[in-house]
Amino acid sequence: MIIFITYLFNWLAFLILLFVLCLLLLWMWSNIRAKVPFVGIPNSVLPDIEEALALKEGSVVYDLGCGDARVLFYLAKNNPKLKYIGIENSPFPFVIASVLSLWNKKINNINVEIIKKDFFDVDLSNATHIFTYLYPNIMDDLLPKFDKELKTGTRIVSASFHFTGKREIALIDLKRGKYQLGKLLYVYEF
Ligand SMILES: C[S@@+](CC[C@H](N)C(=O)[O-])C[C@H]1O[C@@H](n2cnc3c(N)ncnc32)[C@H](O)[C@@H]1O
Repeated sequence: MIIFITYLFNWLAFLILLFVLCLLLLWMWSNIRAKVPFVGIPNSVLPDIEEALALKEGSVVYDLGCGDARVLFYLAKNNPKLKYIGIENSPFPFVIASVLSLWNKKINNINVEIIKKDFFDVDLSNATHIFTYLYPNIMDDLLPKFDKELKTGTRIVSASFHFTGKREIALIDLKRGKYQLGKLLYVYEF
């Protein structure tokens, strides 16, 4: 009996190790391929993001490059009646966000849709609010798409990175430490 339990335990430990190794490989592969690595916005700035977005009844909220979709889950928890869509093209964060989405739907009745796609290929014409935490050059690449597709009044909140060709309507200094991420929020209206 003891031999059997030891045998079973060894197999279980091996399977867990294999699973962790697969996740690690997926994470490495995702970051090697991505132009923007998956770095989640610090949880402590989520209330500031919610305030800057100024959501209202009927809002349709996108996170372009949603990572693990922490921003959308946070917003959806506080404003459950709105529509939330996370776009992510990298396999590792997409898997994490999708699992969390299923979990939150079942356990907390929170609805966040996660789509595996390049956000340049997603029609954003129904967006009322967009959150981004990307890179400067990607912001500038997105500007013509936003100018073409977004309806008047769509609000963008970008953590840390701004458009060089468009003036923000507000710049929020989150007063974070020198080595902390997510120091500034740029707010735009189209
Ligand atoms: C810095 S992380 C931000 C994650 C999340 N928005 C947050 O604030 O916690 C940027 C994410 O954008 C994703 N990304 C970059 N370019 C993308 C693209 N063209 N289409 C979809 N996702 C993209 C990356 O895979 C990465 O997960």
